[in-house]
Amino acid sequence: MAEVIIVPTSDEAGALVADEIVRLIAARPDAVLGLATGSTPLPVYQALRSRVGGVDVSRVRGFALDEYVGIDPAHPQSYRSVITREVVEPLGLDPALIRTPNGALETIEHAGDDYEHAIAAAGGVDLQILGIGTSGHIGFNEPGSSFASRTRVKTLIEQTRQDNARFFDSIDDVPLHCITQGLGTILDARHLFLLAFGENKAAAIAGAVEGPVTASLPGSAIQLHPHVTVVVDEAAASQLQHADYYRYVLAHKPAWQGL
Ligand code: GLP
Repeated sequence: MAEVIIVPTSDEAGALVADEIVRLIAARPDAVLGLATGSTPLPVYQALRSRVGGVDVSRVRGFALDEYVGIDPAHPQSYRSVITREVVEPLGLDPALIRTPNGALETIEHAGDDYEHAIAAAGGVDLQILGIGTSGHIGFNEPGSSFASRTRVKTLIEQTRQDNARFFDSIDDVPLHCITQGLGTILDARHLFLLAFGENKAAAIAGAVEGPVTASLPGSAIQLHPHVTVVVDEAAASQLQHADYYRYVLAHKPAWQGL
């Protein structure tokens, strides 16, 4: 099962994941990070700012989970822009080593395959950061996504467009289509960190961690992965049936075990 860590605040979650990322980079300077967008990973990126001084990040590689289709990469809400602003620039990463799926319409037919080849050529993702949508999506794999899916174009459901409208002037500006790593792509990463904060994520987290494994809740795909760390605050953990057990496990965790 996934290891579930319940923390008091999102800042503590950010620190915990950032520490693990720094450990990884120290051990493997050309580590491949799986980067997520949305508001959830921001505490991780924030915590990394004060930690990267101690390690050489010049060879760190990264792959974003997803991108909007047809959006100008220079648009402030393109995921390319978000990753540049929140991750690449503040952490001093080499932008040439950080990839996002290409949402340009001219090349969209083979953009998914191109991205899969790039991830494979990099040797796969070492550590994948994930948020979860209120629909249970990870990346932009909306309900119904195949567990075998690879990077491809998807149509966003209305709820996701409404959730993301806060980043745009209006919901009409939220693109209809996206290009996202598939569930199969995500499951190939060596270590998954799924983060969630706030009560509006509680149902999705309970479904992902404890519910049936079902394409109707794509986050439940994490149950098929051998190495998953779920980091949530109390509100996001509030619908977990076995929360007390997760706390008990953590309190009695053998000292030699890392994350
Ligand atoms: C977004 C992203 C996901 C993200 C999720 C939750 O649309 N495509 O990668 O995990 O939805 O977003 P947030 O963290 O802002 O709640």
